[in-house]
Amino acid sequence: MSFALTPAHAQRLEHLRSRYETPRSLILPLLWMAQTQEGYLSPEALAFVAHETQLCVADVTSVASFYTMFALSPQGHHTIEVCGTLSCHLNGASQLIEALQKTLGITLGQTTADGAFTLKKVECMGACHEAPVVVIDGVYHARQNVQSLTTLLEETRS
Ligand code: FES
Repeated sequence: MSFALTPAHAQRLEHLRSRYETPRSLILPLLWMAQTQEGYLSPEALAFVAHETQLCVADVTSVASFYTMFALSPQGHHTIEVCGTLSCHLNGASQLIEALQKTLGITLGQTTADGAFTLKKVECMGACHEAPVVVIDGVYHARQNVQSLTTLLEETRS
């Protein structure tokens, strides 16, 4: 199976090409576009990005695996990201992760058997003043506690 950008992404790529001096500089926007299309970065998408950036697949994979915003395997329908960096950690992130793991029956990095949720622990998301922060499907939820997160999870499920 091969990978190709959507026409809109292909147009964006051409625009970006004119802004960057070297093809390798396109790696992050290309990875993001590919993930947006497929929900994760398949081997075919990684090979496509490697071709476009004139890098080897191993280099592209190493960049993709460095950032928690990129997924190298299929993800659940909903993605729950809990910040585990200092401010959030000091304000209860560990308790949130523990409660989520227990409720969902999975550990960090896993997806529920029904494919509904993927749980991740991520680094600082730039909202330290509202710690602890949980992001569900890209939406920030500030100052969470186990009770508020349980409600949020139920709302997300429905
Ligand atoms: S430490 Fe959690 S958002 Fe910065």
